[in-house]
Amino acid sequence: MDADEQAARLQELADALEFSRRESQELRSELEETNRGVLALYAELDAQAEQLRQATELKSSFLAYMSHEFRTPINSIRSITRLLLDRVDGPLTEEQVKQVSFVQQNATEFAEMVDDLLDLAKVEAGRVEISPAWFEMVDLFSALRGMFKPVLTNPAVNLVFEEPENVPKLYTDDRKLSQILRNFISNALKFTPRGDVRVTARLQGDGQVTFSVSDTGIGIAPEFHQSLFEDFTQVQSPLQKRLRGTGLGLSLSKKLAALLGGSVRLDSEHGKGSVFSVTIPIQLEGAKPE
Ligand SMILES: Nc1ncnc2c1ncn2[C@@H]1O[C@H](COP(=O)(O)OP(=O)(O)OP(=O)(O)O)[C@@H](O)[C@H]1O
Ligand SMILES: [Mg+2]
Repeated sequence: MDADEQAARLQELADALEFSRRESQELRSELEETNRGVLALYAELDAQAEQLRQATELKSSFLAYMSHEFRTPINSIRSITRLLLDRVDGPLTEEQVKQVSFVQQNATEFAEMVDDLLDLAKVEAGRVEISPAWFEMVDLFSALRGMFKPVLTNPAVNLVFEEPENVPKLYTDDRKLSQILRNFISNALKFTPRGDVRVTARLQGDGQVTFSVSDTGIGIAPEFHQSLFEDFTQVQSPLQKRLRGTGLGLSLSKKLAALLGGSVRLDSEHGKGSVFSVTIPIQLEGAKPE
């Protein structure tokens, strides 16, 4: 290679080097731009998260105030209807009894709805007190059995509480647990035209216990399994049209289960029935049993 050739070769190399230097420079500035974009997006996301948090807080306090304020008038409607039905102010005609009973029934439903809303608002605002204590499963089951006896109006449906086997004493908030099971059971009864609603308690290996409410009712299609545990979700069905409800029960149950250190779960096949279960630690963590 002579000197000219060598110089030309060198020049070529230098050109190639310059080219790739420029290319990488371009790439770098492109990357920097993308980075800036990502940062801007992050900031926007942060702002939106903050807005969402504020909106949730507002919603919670609105719910809390509203449902609290509703209680007084509802209760006065309920006591007045009771007075009327007790004939304190004299006799009622048959038609009046029907009408007043209707008002009473609606006021009761309204009161239940307001209680649910208030509970939900309290949970969301982190204002729910968990008060754990030792208790026996059998006692909880028999209390539930007593509670549901008066509402079992469909003779084609059996409500069965299976004797809990080997389930030790629990240390948790029995009222919250009962609230979760009550909602599962009342749902199961609502959506089961015939067959069994079965309540069981089973010990898991890892210091947890699972309560299940299984039914032979209408079941739930898979696409709804997740969203049912969110506020106000209801699945449309011919049964649903005849029933009332707000769609808050399951969402509240999920939140209560989390407060008890556990979780809820749904297994269901459309048309065959459903199993709603809640799994919680036998002993609430962080709480010191005395
Ligand atoms: N055992 C079940 N079988 C079939 N569908 C069910 C069952 N349990 C719940 N669902 C469906 O899930 C929906 C939500 O239940 P959830 O308890 O949250 O509300 P709700 O019972 O409609 O009203 P609320 O409990 O607030 O009075 C129900 O409306 C129903 O569509
Ligand atoms: Mg319900």
